Amino acid sequence: MITPILLCGGSGTRLWPLSRKSYPKQFAPLIGSRSLFQDAALRLSGDGFAAPVVLTNADFRFIVTDQLADMGIAPGAILIEPQGRNTAPAVLAAAVHLEQTDPDGLMLVAPSDHVVPDADAFREAVAAGVEAARAGKLVTFGIAPDRPETGYGYLELGRPPREGTVEAIDLTAFVEKPDRARAEAMLAAGNYLWNAGLFLFSVRAIIGAFETHAPGLVAPVRAAVAEGQRDLDFLRLASGPWAEAEDISIDYAVMERASDIAAVPYGGRWSDLGDWHAVWREMERDGDGVAVSGPATAIDCADTLLRSEDEGVELVGIGLQGVIAVAMPDAVLVADAGRAQEVRRAVDALKSRQ
Ligand code: GDD
Ligand code: MG
Repeated sequence: MITPILLCGGSGTRLWPLSRKSYPKQFAPLIGSRSLFQDAALRLSGDGFAAPVVLTNADFRFIVTDQLADMGIAPGAILIEPQGRNTAPAVLAAAVHLEQTDPDGLMLVAPSDHVVPDADAFREAVAAGVEAARAGKLVTFGIAPDRPETGYGYLELGRPPREGTVEAIDLTAFVEKPDRARAEAMLAAGNYLWNAGLFLFSVRAIIGAFETHAPGLVAPVRAAVAEGQRDLDFLRLASGPWAEAEDISIDYAVMERASDIAAVPYGGRWSDLGDWHAVWREMERDGDGVAVSGPATAIDCADTLLRSEDEGVELVGIGLQGVIAVAMPDAVLVADAGRAQEVRRAVDALKSRQ
């Protein structure tokens, strides 16, 4: 059995105003009727998967339980982080929690803000990584890159994939968030994949990797789990030791430093819905590249996204080119589509006004 570890502590500021501090993007129905978190939980349920372990913060705990209950999924555990310390402490906490009952078990760490439409192909890729993970490797999943993206990690394959075979391939390097020049060089080299942000490994192997590559995290995270308080269905990690854990992602803390790493290439569609431009790419568009949702109308527009998230707010665009407009009951975003990454500046600006 593989235990899914669902990470859903991020705040998704680049998807303001739909994504809010109190209700971030992973819990909103961005594409289709389920939330991305619900899609992620569903994708990793059924045959071969144990009940998921969810890592989130106190504000989202009831959203998590409600959204899981809606789909009839009972969580194995919900760990509450006193503060977001990024993904390395979160993953280690999940491993330490599982170690008590299943030290040789496998865990699949999954973000909750991705679109992966073909769940069967995705589960096939996970299954293809099991043997390597059982052998102690840290297994990643790789996506063929199509642009020199600087927001992702890159996986250097030790050999080319074999045609028609889904299997884990040993990696010679893991490069997290390269600068533009390095990203361009890796894209041109042809033997790199993007890191999809999912990880498969045994509880024992990942704890060992933390002990070797990020030993400073081990004592605080172990203490935070051991001294955690049970509260209803939740395990609240102890805030004192948790505050001492370094704020760092698993990519930097472990993956860039480890040598026993492998990747299963994934050929299906995958998208990290990090910003509105990515949402626009995933939505149904007409021949002019216009995507609308809710009570929204586009007249003579091109390459534009118009979303009204309120039945009472009509949104109309005329003659727009490369624009993103998102209307909520209490806030409206209008932005140049090429500057979707900068939406987090809106959130910073609003914060400083409060
Ligand atoms: N519980 C919890 N606590 N979850 C967190 C925290 C935290 O402190 N910080 C981030 N997360 C969740 C986010 O909500 C998201 O689902 C996931 O962990 C990954 O974090 P991101 O902040 O979105 O990472 P990234 O997109 O910059 O980079 C990662 O994903 C890329 C692919 O999408 C890396 O793994 C890259 O290498 C990878 O290419
Ligand atoms: Mg992300």
